[in-house]
Amino acid sequence: MKAAPPLNTAPTRPALNADQSQLLQPLLAQHKDQPGGLLPLLHAVQDAMGYIPSEAVPEIAQAMNLSRAEVHGVITYYHHFRSSPPGKHVIQVCQAEACKACGGDALMAQAELALGCTSHNTRADGAVTLEPVYCLGLCASSPAIQINERVHARVSAGKLQRLLQETLEATP
Ligand code: FES
Repeated sequence: MKAAPPLNTAPTRPALNADQSQLLQPLLAQHKDQPGGLLPLLHAVQDAMGYIPSEAVPEIAQAMNLSRAEVHGVITYYHHFRSSPPGKHVIQVCQAEACKACGGDALMAQAELALGCTSHNTRADGAVTLEPVYCLGLCASSPAIQINERVHARVSAGKLQRLLQETLEATP
């Protein structure tokens, strides 16, 4: 049987690993005195790590002179921010107005079926994360998707199938 922890021991917070900490510190230094710096900082953290680890929230809150709840609230408010590591490939299907009017919903449904992964989730094997995105700046050429850092416009069902297949085949 597992021994109970001593009653007077404060629970220890899970910490960032050394690599994550090394990435985070310069970003905190860069944004901590910037007015309205929380959003740029969160973007920078996600760009650097692929997501915003929950272990980073206390450090971000302290640097920005905010409560952890405030930082957590911003992370969960914006669809863009992830709280868990993404898969090897990130596939985003635009669900904003112009793309929806041109078949964005059907593309998302097709992607879910083809990838075996529902929107907002990472497939069990870690190969892909499927996400909605709200405008990729290609409204005049909708519907649009983004695969990793590359955007694709005027995506038909056939084009989506080909792009997804090429992406999955690129998975080692
Ligand atoms: S609405 Fe989809 S790219 Fe703008």
